[in-house]
Amino acid sequence: MSRAQQHILAIAIVLAVIVVCGIHVFLFPMYTTNQPNHHTKISSYEQVLCRGGSLNKKKYIINNNKFVPIEWINSCPKYGIVSATQGGRLGNQIFQYASVWATARKTGLDPFLPRCILKTLEEHFDNLSIPPLSYIGTCTIDVGQVVSSLGQWNSTEQNIIIPRYAAYWSLILLWLDDVRREFTFRLALKLYADKILKKISIKFNTTDPTYVGVHVRRTDYVDYLWQKLKIRPAPVRYYLTAMDYFHNKYENVIFVIASDSINWCKFNLNSKKHRISLISDINARGPGKDLAVLAACNHSIIDYGTYGSFAAILTGGETISYNVTTYFSTMIADIMPNWRIMS
Ligand SMILES: *[C@@H]1O[C@H](CO)[C@@H](O)[C@H](O)[C@H]1NC(C)=O
Ligand SMILES: *[C@@H]1O[C@H](CO)[C@@H](O)[C@H](O)[C@H]1NC(C)=O
Ligand SMILES: *[C@@H]1O[C@H](CO)[C@@H](O)[C@H](O)[C@H]1NC(C)=O
Ligand SMILES: *[C@@H]1O[C@H](CO)[C@@H](O)[C@H](O)[C@H]1NC(C)=O
Ligand SMILES: *[C@@H]1O[C@H](CO)[C@@H](O)[C@H](O)[C@H]1NC(C)=O
Repeated sequence: MSRAQQHILAIAIVLAVIVVCGIHVFLFPMYTTNQPNHHTKISSYEQVLCRGGSLNKKKYIINNNKFVPIEWINSCPKYGIVSATQGGRLGNQIFQYASVWATARKTGLDPFLPRCILKTLEEHFDNLSIPPLSYIGTCTIDVGQVVSSLGQWNSTEQNIIIPRYAAYWSLILLWLDDVRREFTFRLALKLYADKILKKISIKFNTTDPTYVGVHVRRTDYVDYLWQKLKIRPAPVRYYLTAMDYFHNKYENVIFVIASDSINWCKFNLNSKKHRISLISDINARGPGKDLAVLAACNHSIIDYGTYGSFAAILTGGETISYNVTTYFSTMIADIMPNWRIMS
């Protein structure tokens, strides 16, 4: 072998080594990120799902006369789980809970929720059956095996983590009575709602009134509707037409109006023709209380959004909702037999 040949061979060997190293250094990490094997402890994963990050202290239960963290006594789920990421206000979180509940029922997977969502809901509801993620906090979750909806789910190993703001309403509607049972109001809220309605009926001196709960969604939703759907909010005319409908159909109708902008309602919906009572706090600080009152009414008028839609679902009476083409509240109205759409 000549010197020149030895030189070329040496260069070839060096190049080969560089190529092999390059494959290892640059490609190997790509393979590993594709490998769906990233086990994370569920107690850490729960924090990821919560808006604020950190969570309260552990819950303890008494077992054999000893305080033990609640997660120690539960065995790990055999298959994937269903859970959700916290997002939005009370209405969003109610729909997230209901979506998790219905998705779990449909798939047979076990549902668990981060405590941040459960905490919001437990302030208002009494009969929630989904346990906190901390029940299985010492188990691991394979974060490479996460999908966001039933449509993407194709193996029992996969976890379904429902994203922020998602509302899987078509699944929820399959088991409406069971979903309603989950959302049984706490006794204090139920008594509050009864008291408010009684007071209103006395104010109008009516016996056996028909209460129509009206939910008017304003504030940030006005921008949202424009940004997302390029539509204007429901006009005053819509609410008044819907009120006329109930006024003509039932006796002694009283409209019980709740809103995140009760001032807007005060100035725009003060029809002399109807008995109207505005129940919301001026700063909308009692969404749970308002929801309990709306749900205790006999019928509903809503415009759009998760809060109003769920209020109408809980009320279970005749419902009028605003026509927003292909929007979820309108699609619910298309399916529900006693809901109608108005423009
Ligand atoms: C199953 O779902 C995963 C995640 O959505 C996807 O990557 C995979 O291609 C799906 N497999 C089949 C057979 O549909
Ligand atoms: C609470 O939930 C259980 C199980 O879903 C149900 O049997 C019960 O009737 C519910 N309670 C109320 C007050 O709705
Ligand atoms: C309330 O209505 C009844 C009849 O429905 C009437 O007799 C009574 O005078 C009314 N009371 C007041 C304070 O308006
Ligand atoms: C209407 O709602 C009130 C308050 O919840 C209730 O007392 C009354 O029985 C309901 N009326 C009908 C016809 O369901
Ligand atoms: C709702 O709006 C769509 C589009 O503007 C229209 O085609 C439809 O007839 C409306 N439905 C009702 C019930 O008003």
